[in-house]
Amino acid sequence: MGSPRHFGGRSLERLLQVRKDFPITLHGVSLSIGSTDRLDQNYLNRLKRLIGIVDPLWVSDHLCWTGVGGENIHDLLPLPYTREAIRHVTDRICRVQDFLGRRLTIENVSSYVAFSHSRMTEWEFLNEICERADCDILLDVNNIFVSAVNHGFDPMEYLRAIPGKRVRQFHLAGHANKGHYRIDTHDRDVCEDVWRLYAEAVKLYGAVPVILERDGNIPPLKDLIQELNYARRIEKRSRPQIERSPALDEVDHRRSPRREKGPRRPTRETGLQG
Ligand SMILES: [Fe+2]
Repeated sequence: MGSPRHFGGRSLERLLQVRKDFPITLHGVSLSIGSTDRLDQNYLNRLKRLIGIVDPLWVSDHLCWTGVGGENIHDLLPLPYTREAIRHVTDRICRVQDFLGRRLTIENVSSYVAFSHSRMTEWEFLNEICERADCDILLDVNNIFVSAVNHGFDPMEYLRAIPGKRVRQFHLAGHANKGHYRIDTHDRDVCEDVWRLYAEAVKLYGAVPVILERDGNIPPLKDLIQELNYARRIEKRSRPQIERSPALDEVDHRRSPRREKGPRRPTRETGLQG
């Protein structure tokens, strides 16, 4: 978004150029919805302003905390899976949604450590927050796999527990295999294990829009397009015969009315992010 004094600039100009031809979603890493710091009102003001300009299909950020005591440590850190944390995060999501006047989409993060006082699974924690706050889910399939290896749970158990009506988008990415643990690096191709999990996610939730995340070792565009086409092929052969019910759209529009004009709505699009 740029600094508070220099909102937009060339970045916004380029975004609006893209916006003329393609739908836009806003994906953040700085909401720090799980932190015990006060919500950053300056950040929220700028986010609301950007939403007003871009009119995104949806706005997403992560179920995590990224700092405390006013310090941003630029990492997506996991929360303790407790009732106290559910109340805390739910309250903050509701306040953000009320301020922005629209539903948030919350993404599961990958993690490497866990709190010994957690009292439930990550998916139980995520589901209860989304139910209480009435927000949607951005399901990062790679993050589920990375955390499953790191913490020793069954990724299919996680997938099956997610309420399909709330799944707004999938993320796919590559990660580093360190033997007995994995690191979510976004710097290589999606691995076969994650493709298999993605196929299962499509079987369960249908044709949900997908973003292929890539932050490092960016290959030539033709290689990325090849990877996107692979995702499209998996989606095509895994998609359930009966399409998803329109319930998702009905839920979304209570906070975000359907646009009369503008780019098409992606019902089964696959894109890049990096
Ligand atoms: Fe992601």
